[in-house]
Amino acid sequence: MKHYLQFKDLRAEEYAHVFNRARIIKTRFKNYERYQPLVDRTLAMIFEKASTRTRVSFEAGMYQMGGSVVHLTTGDSQLGRSEPIEDSARVISRMTDIVMIRTYEHTKIERFAAHSRVPVINGLTNEFHPCQILADIYTWLEHRAPVGANGFDLASLKGKIVAWVGDGNNMANTWLQAAEILGFKVHISTPSGYGVDPVVAGIRDTSCYQVFADPREACKGADLVTTDVWTSMGYEAENEARKTAFANWCVDTAMMSVAKPDALFMHCLPAHRGEEVAADVIDGPQSVVWDEAENRLHAQKALMEYLLLGRIG
Ligand code: CP
Ligand code: NVA
Repeated sequence: MKHYLQFKDLRAEEYAHVFNRARIIKTRFKNYERYQPLVDRTLAMIFEKASTRTRVSFEAGMYQMGGSVVHLTTGDSQLGRSEPIEDSARVISRMTDIVMIRTYEHTKIERFAAHSRVPVINGLTNEFHPCQILADIYTWLEHRAPVGANGFDLASLKGKIVAWVGDGNNMANTWLQAAEILGFKVHISTPSGYGVDPVVAGIRDTSCYQVFADPREACKGADLVTTDVWTSMGYEAENEARKTAFANWCVDTAMMSVAKPDALFMHCLPAHRGEEVAADVIDGPQSVVWDEAENRLHAQKALMEYLLLGRIG
């Protein structure tokens, strides 16, 4: 049994498989071809933080594959009334086939997974957001990678540059793990005091990223420029201090103009136009944010298929 708690829980060759399955599953879906390998399977979704994309993509995806979904929040379950996470894991995993959790500390999802009989997927923790990077890299491949007889050429990402502008948060940590596994490099620029920590990010080889004080320098020559909110969920008390600290970390057209001419812009959403990204960038021609959001659906369907059924095709 496999869990998907961090990006590094799968190897490069497993990603090659999952991305190709996502491409096939997406094509079938666009052609209105029914694909229901998960009939009688149930996904439990546990949300301790808000969500739009994660909830809709997992819920719609599970129904489209023939399964069903149970939706739990802290407020409407015993999770909010101090039932131990270990007990919740034991019970929920006896009644369902796969679990997705969005919560605060990563240790919480690890404790759940350690007591679960079924695969557990990280739908975002304070430290990581692997399902988002799964969709982001799928989107990157879809826009830029050649498709051969064996599907996407994952090796085409080797040596490429991703510029991360903003907070050294769960998304930044997950990009670092992806860079280490897939062989690209992250140029990261954060305000002082908001940087990434390779130990927290869980990477062994720090050569997969380079730190830049100036966000424009980080964007120079980048193949992909990406950012995220200045204040992640759970850090709202720091909002005002962050607005001041991050004022120069807004991805604008000047930053995009020093990236490669065909650089893509990504944002996991929700976005704050005029804060971490200028409206003319997120709504401009290099932005692929809507494909990125849609691909959560297709990539996670391939992920659930892989975790529940193994290699298909
Ligand atoms: N990007 C993302 O995870 O969005 P939600 O918070 O809406 O799920
Ligand atoms: N870094 C953001 C991502 C939201 C999808 C957060 O954790 O709130």
